[in-house]
Formats: sequence, C-alpha cells, structure tokens
Amino acid sequence: MENFKIDNPTVLHFGRNVVRDLGKTVEKYGRKVLLIYGGGSIKKNGIYEEVMGQLKQINAEVIEFRGIKPNPIVEDVNAAAEKGKQFQPDVILAVGGGSVIDSAKVLSLAIPCEHSAWRIMINMAKPTTAIPIITVLTLAATGSEMNSIAVLQNVETHKKIPIRNDLIYPKHSFLDPQYTFSVPKDYTAYGIVDLITHAMEAWFGEGSATLSDRFVCSIILEAMEYGPALLDDLNNYELRARIMYAATQALNGLTMYGRVSGEWGVHAIGHILSLLYDIPHGATLSVAYPAWLKLMKDRIPQRILEFGKVVFNTSTAEKTISALENFFSSIEAPVRMNEIGIGEDKKPEILDMMIKNKVNGMHYKLSKEDIEKIVELMY
Ligand code: NZQ
Ligand code: ZN
Repeated sequence: MENFKIDNPTVLHFGRNVVRDLGKTVEKYGRKVLLIYGGGSIKKNGIYEEVMGQLKQINAEVIEFRGIKPNPIVEDVNAAAEKGKQFQPDVILAVGGGSVIDSAKVLSLAIPCEHSAWRIMINMAKPTTAIPIITVLTLAATGSEMNSIAVLQNVETHKKIPIRNDLIYPKHSFLDPQYTFSVPKDYTAYGIVDLITHAMEAWFGEGSATLSDRFVCSIILEAMEYGPALLDDLNNYELRARIMYAATQALNGLTMYGRVSGEWGVHAIGHILSLLYDIPHGATLSVAYPAWLKLMKDRIPQRILEFGKVVFNTSTAEKTISALENFFSSIEAPVRMNEIGIGEDKKPEILDMMIKNKVNGMHYKLSKEDIEKIVELMY
C-alpha cells in the first residue's frame, strides 16, 4: 500500500430538502452570487425557483450565466469569466450535472486570473486562488460535486481534457435525490455506467490497496443491484438516493487511497468519442470499457478475473467481460459504436484523433497497434 493523505474539504449535504440550508450556507461566503446552470432543465423541474427562493432569503445580488452544454466547451467558460470579472462574485453557485459543475470549477479559477480558461486547462497558467464554489447537484454520475477534477472541451484544438486542482473542490455540495427525479431514463443509465467505470478505473490503476478494492466492488454491486430497479421506477426516492450516494463515492478519493494512480485509459478514449460526435459521457464508456478489457484480457487476465469473481461471480476473464457488457446492454447503454449511430466509415477518423491526442492510460500503456485494436473492438 502506498502512503496517502485524506483531505477532501467538500461538505456534503445529502437527503430530502437539504436545499433549505442553501441560503445560509451561501451567506457565509458573501451575498454576491454568480449562478451558473445548463440548458434549462432546472427551470422545468422547479429547482431554479427553490434555489432563487433561498438566495432571496439572504438578499443576494445574483447574476446568471445560463446555457452550459453537456460536454461543456471552453468558450462558455470564457464568456462566463468575462461577466464574472466585472461582477466580482463572492461565490459561484453551480446548479446542474457534471458539465455545469466542471464549468463552474474552471470559472472559479479564471475569474481571478489573467489567463484564458484554456491556458488554465493546459497548465500554462498556474492559478493561486479561486472563487468559492457551492453546488446543487441535479444528476448522479460524475462525482464532480466532491472532487477536484474538471473536464472541458476545446472544439478548435480538438481536445477534451481533465484538470485536477485542490483549489476547485466545491466548498459545499447539496444532494437532494428528489432533484434527480426528472433525469430521463437514458441519462440515468449513463450516470450508472459512469459511476461503475469510475470505480473500475481505480481497480485497474497501479498499486495494491485491498480495502480500496473492496470499496470499488461494493460501489459497483450497489449500482448493479439498485440501478436497474431505478430505471423501472424513476421517481423512487430510495433508489435515486442509493445511486446518487454511490456516484459521489465512486470518484471522491475513497477508491484511490493506497494506490499509485488510477488507470483512466478508457476515459481518455471516451473523451475522443464525445469530442468527435458529442456523445453523452456515460454512453462513450459503455462502448469503450468492454473493448479495452478485450484488449487487456491476455495481459492482465488475473486482475480482470479477480474483479469478475466478486462483482459477477464469473470464473474467467472472458466471462467477466461478457457479464459487464450484458449488464450495460440490460440498462440500455450502448456497447457498440453502431448503437450510437457511428458507422465503420468513421474508424480512420477516430483512430487519427486518438493518436493526435496521445490517448493512453496511466498504468497500462497503449501502443499505436493497441489503439487500432481498441477501435476495431468497439464495433
Ligand atoms: O443542461 P440541462 O438543461 O441542465 O440538462 C442536462 C443535460 O442535458 C440534463 N439534466 C441534468 N440534470 C437534470 C437534467 N435533466 C432533467 N432533470 C435533471 N435533474 O442532463 C444532461 C446531461 O448533463 P451533464 O451535466 O452533461 O451530465 P453529467 O453529469 O453526466 O456530466 C458529464 C460531464 O462531466 C464530465 C464528462 O466528461 C462530461 O463532460 N466528467 C466530469 C468528471 C469530474 N469532474 O470528476 C469525471 C467524469 O469522468 C467525467 O469526465
Ligand atoms: Zn466518467
């Protein structure tokens, strides 16, 4: 086991009606609030009203930045930063899923900084301070509500990349499972895929950490037991709560303590598919993970089997991969490129973009031939 430090500063408020404490929590940081959200789901499901009600109670001065897209783009963060530099908010309030929260995180660094958001993403700028962020999560998937990661896309330079920075941990995150009732069935399934694959990226990382391994398996077993039931009963509070909590724990550090690193090769592949075809993040992973495992099955059969034994009760690496694929199919997540409408003619384009972006894992390195095989295996 490697040395480690546990220092996750995000305060999590979890459960029914926790947003009742939002106003007084925001007030601790100040009354000038930059509210950032997505394409408008929060206006349809009533979340916007409840959040505004809280801000009204503290007489907050609010400016809004609306329109963050799924697979968020750096241009939107730059535009929000321009507004933010004029307004000088005390706090950024992000209401949405991972895309909104990730945009808020980079925004929090960009407002006090002279550099553009993309220079921050590519580590050309070294921010020393950030505006405090508070989040109200509306979609269970990424874990962004309790981690220091942000992922943004730059369409011009053809990149979708993550950054990690301790300054961007949200100060507080409010997770009311009721706020996820309106997430449609497909995005609910993609969220389940995303959380499972976050746990798997830890499992296939470098280093031995048996308790962290057990956390990985428990999170996945929880998602596999309650995820399918939730898809048949989208307004079920208890099931929404179980999935929401699992998604947070899947990428807040818990599964990583004692390891050298995670793996993250499959996420790198997924980001290329989102970049090229604007596919929802979780749907890229249900296609890419089985393909990556098929490539790796002769290299790390034992590690795949250890995982399969606990999670699927399988007896070989091959059976484990089939079981994972069958689970993804059972929740109607795509497992082949043609299921997301990407034909064989796109293979050269995908390969080219993967090579240009130097797609690779942190633990298992992929050669050009490996990447070629993965592209084939995704069809
Ligand atoms: O834009 P709005 O109108 O809000 O609609 C969103 C969007 O269309 C909708 N939605 C969200 N909450 C809803 C809802 N619809 C109805 N009711 C609600 N309560 O869902 C759609 C998808 O939202 P998005 O935020 O894009 O989804 P998700 O949370 O899956 O975030 C995906 C992004 O996070 C990145 C991904 O790469 C992708 O860009 N990731 C971030 C990570 C992190 N920060 O730790 C790690 C992940 O691996 C991932 O890379
Ligand atoms: Zn993910």
